[in-house]
Amino acid sequence: MTANAAPQAAGVSGGAGVPRHVAIIMDGNGRWAKKRFLPRVAGHRAGVEAVRRAVKAAPRIGIEVLTLYAFSSENWKRPADEVSDLMGLLKHYLQSEIDELHENGIRLKFIGDHSRLSAELVKLLQKSAERTAGNTRMTLVLALNYGSQDELARAVRGLIADGTPAEQVTEEAIAARLDTADLPLPDLIIRTSGEQRLSNFLLWQAAYAELAFTDELWPDFNEASLQRLVDEYLRRERRYGGL
Ligand code: IPE
Ligand code: IPE
Ligand code: MG
Repeated sequence: MTANAAPQAAGVSGGAGVPRHVAIIMDGNGRWAKKRFLPRVAGHRAGVEAVRRAVKAAPRIGIEVLTLYAFSSENWKRPADEVSDLMGLLKHYLQSEIDELHENGIRLKFIGDHSRLSAELVKLLQKSAERTAGNTRMTLVLALNYGSQDELARAVRGLIADGTPAEQVTEEAIAARLDTADLPLPDLIIRTSGEQRLSNFLLWQAAYAELAFTDELWPDFNEASLQRLVDEYLRRERRYGGL
């Protein structure tokens, strides 16, 4: 197992500026399928292949944390069949990939409210996280039944339930209660499929993240797509409100 490799970038050299944490809103599976006159589930299946590619590519680029938005707290509005297809694919992905992820030094982590997921799936998530907890090559974070507003509401409820006095409800105290408390903030948030919105993803954490939008549909996303967006990120200047 190698440590984070230097970027094999075509173009930009040097490892210092590589985004530590890249978060992706994987969008466009349905449109990918529609273009091919296929059912939406075929788009989601092709989306899983794109996940496999991204998870292989990210540590090669030197990314430490890759967060993937897999199912939002609003995605329950979709037809029951599609929700069940998505849950089934997720379960299948974890079951079939866990050995390889573990061998490749990937630590798995899950964010979101898991109280609405099936007991079987929750068990699988716990098992996968526990088994890979000691891995250090890259952290793969899957956002499942994740919504940023729900995450913030849960954080504040936790502070109140613990009797936190008002003056101790600081930015740090809130951040420490978020699902992402133990992760670096996202440096780069990518959305595929041409939509330019965050759809309730990492709203607090995105305060100073760089945003990148690509017209590619998620099932078409590959290592070159990720490398190109990272290269674009490396050319940006981050200011955090300063000069
Ligand atoms: C993203 O693709 C996958 C999930 C939201 C789980 P979509 O299913 O949203 O695809 P489009 O936006 O309909 O093309
Ligand atoms: C965002 O995509 C959620 C995920 C990628 C899991 P959506 O397709 O659900 O977002 P909207 O509805 O277009 O904003
Ligand atoms: Mg969509």
